[in-house]
Amino acid sequence: MPLVTTKEMFEKAYAGGYAIGAFNVNNMEIIQGITEAAKEENAPVILQVSAGARKYAKHDYLVKLVEAAIIDTDLPIALHLDHGEDFEICKACIDGGFTSVMIDGSKHSFEDNIALTRKVVEYAHAHGVVVEGELGKLAGIEDDVNVSDADACFTRPDEVEEFVERTGVDSLAIAIGTSHGAFKFKPGQKPQLRFDILEEISRRLPNFPIVLHGASSVSQEYVEIIQKYGGKLDDAIGIPEDMLRQAAKSAVCKINIDSDLRLAFTAGVREYIFNNPSHFDPRQYLAVGRTYIKNLVKHKIVNVLGCSGAAAK
Ligand code: G3H
Ligand code: 13P
Ligand code: ZN
Repeated sequence: MPLVTTKEMFEKAYAGGYAIGAFNVNNMEIIQGITEAAKEENAPVILQVSAGARKYAKHDYLVKLVEAAIIDTDLPIALHLDHGEDFEICKACIDGGFTSVMIDGSKHSFEDNIALTRKVVEYAHAHGVVVEGELGKLAGIEDDVNVSDADACFTRPDEVEEFVERTGVDSLAIAIGTSHGAFKFKPGQKPQLRFDILEEISRRLPNFPIVLHGASSVSQEYVEIIQKYGGKLDDAIGIPEDMLRQAAKSAVCKINIDSDLRLAFTAGVREYIFNNPSHFDPRQYLAVGRTYIKNLVKHKIVNVLGCSGAAAK
C-alpha cells in the first residue's frame, strides 16, 4: 500500500464518530513504536513531522522510515507536515513525498492567513496533497493569559466558513483551550475546553474535519516514572482523557499527540538506564523507549481515539 492522504480517513472518522491519532515522529524507534501499536489495533494513523524533526533527522531519512513502516504493517498511513510556517517548507514536503501538509498561518492577520493558506492549497491540490489550515491561536501556560486574553485566542466561529471557502483547505485546526507542551494548565486550575465553540464551528461547517492540536493528556504514570528516576517535571498537566474522548466523537477527526510520546519514551529510557547502570548498548534502552511508545499509542487508539479496527472499515 502507498502512503495515503487523510481524505478517506477523515470521511470515515467523521461518519464513525472517532478520531485518527496524529503522532509526531523524529526517529526510527518512535515510528516503529507507533506503527507497531497501530498494526496490532488495525488502526489508520497519521505520522507527522515538524520543521524541528526535519532538521534533526533530515527529510529523506524520515520519508524512507515511514515507507518502511508501510511495508512492515500494510496499514493506511498519511505523512503530514506539522505546523508548516511558510509556503517554502510546504512545497518542499509536497515535492518530497508527503501526502498532507499543515500551513499554520494563525500568527498572521485573517486576510494574510487566507492568502498564504490559499497559495499552499493551490500547489498542494495540484499535486494530490491535502492541506490543514489553522484559525485561532493555541495558548501556552507561559503566556500567562487571563480569561479575556484567552478568549481572544479561541477560534472565532463567525470566521470559519469564510476561511474554509476562500482557502479551500481540507481540514481546520481550531483553538478551544488546548495548548502545546506538558504544562497546559496552571496548578490548581481546572482543565476546561470550549466545547460550545467546537459545536458552533461544526454546525457552521457540516461534514468538515476539525483538528485538535496540543492534545496530550500528560499521564501521571509517565510523569511519576520520570520523577522516580531522577527527572524533574513538577506541575505537568495535560488534557483529561474524557474530554479528548468527547472531542473524538464529534467533528474532531485528527488529534495531535507529541508531548505524551516524549514523556513515554523518556520514562522508558530513564527507567532502563537507572536500573542498568553498567549497560551502554543504545539498543537496550532505545528498545524500552520504543515499547513504552507502543503501549501509549495502543492506549490512545483504544481508550481515547476510538479508531481500533478502523483500518479495515
Ligand atoms: O506542535 C509542535 C510539536 O510538538 C513539534 O514540536 O517543533 O519541537 O518538533 P517540535
Ligand atoms: P502536545 O504538545 O499536546 O502533544 O501537542 C502536539 C501538537 O499539537 C503537534 O502539532
Ligand atoms: Zn500543534
